[in-house]
Amino acid sequence: MTAPRPLIAGNWKMFGLGPAVDEARQVAAALTARPAAARVAICAPATLVERLARAVEGCDVIVGGQDIHTEACGAFTGDISAEMLADAGGRMVILGHSERRSAYGESDALTATKAEAALRAGLEPIICVGETLAEREAGRTLEVICRQVQGSLPPALAGTAFAVAYEPIWAIGTGLTPTLDQIEASHVALRAAMARTLGEAGRSAPILYGGSVKPSNAAEILKAKEVGGALVGGASLKAADFLAIVRAAG
Ligand code: 13P
Repeated sequence: MTAPRPLIAGNWKMFGLGPAVDEARQVAAALTARPAAARVAICAPATLVERLARAVEGCDVIVGGQDIHTEACGAFTGDISAEMLADAGGRMVILGHSERRSAYGESDALTATKAEAALRAGLEPIICVGETLAEREAGRTLEVICRQVQGSLPPALAGTAFAVAYEPIWAIGTGLTPTLDQIEASHVALRAAMARTLGEAGRSAPILYGGSVKPSNAAEILKAKEVGGALVGGASLKAADFLAIVRAAG
């Protein structure tokens, strides 16, 4: 059996005005000139999704969003639905990011419902889990992330394309990364939790690592056991850095 293509996804978070479209264009042009081993995605702010989708049309770059509401439409001021994201050209969506869990109190159950909404609109969800520094120091990392997987992955994911992202909260935007042994221990435990939750379907979905991934550490992280790609924040904002991480995947 051939291994599935790794997925390298950029999370632009709340960064990017009009000129940022050019970074995506540069990524797309480079991948057209020399195709990547990995699948490549850029999860942009909602305001840029349609512009990015147009800019990279016909190229090997998947455009995605960073959150959706659970409903298809309704009186939810400020929110966008999975259907709206898909209508704008989005094909993927990040769900349950730690920044949404901590700043907006998003729970595992809400994340699971959002994953169902994503599937309803044909979006491929990337479902995030990760421990705080206090949880790691208390030796609770594996218990915490496996519980998050169990609560955040709805049964409907079985048989559809999705990814899980392991993002230790203390490694996000800090320049700190876990050791390779720590990354492997988390990813192996997550794989087992995904298989317990979804059966066979939980054995094949990629598990991305996220948290201070950069050109200088991407290659060794991507070689670690059960690491099926990366979810990249800060280093995804510049085409050159993001492309270096994409190329590190092979
Ligand atoms: P950084 O790569 O900036 O640490 O962010 C990681 C992240 O939160 C991606 O979702």
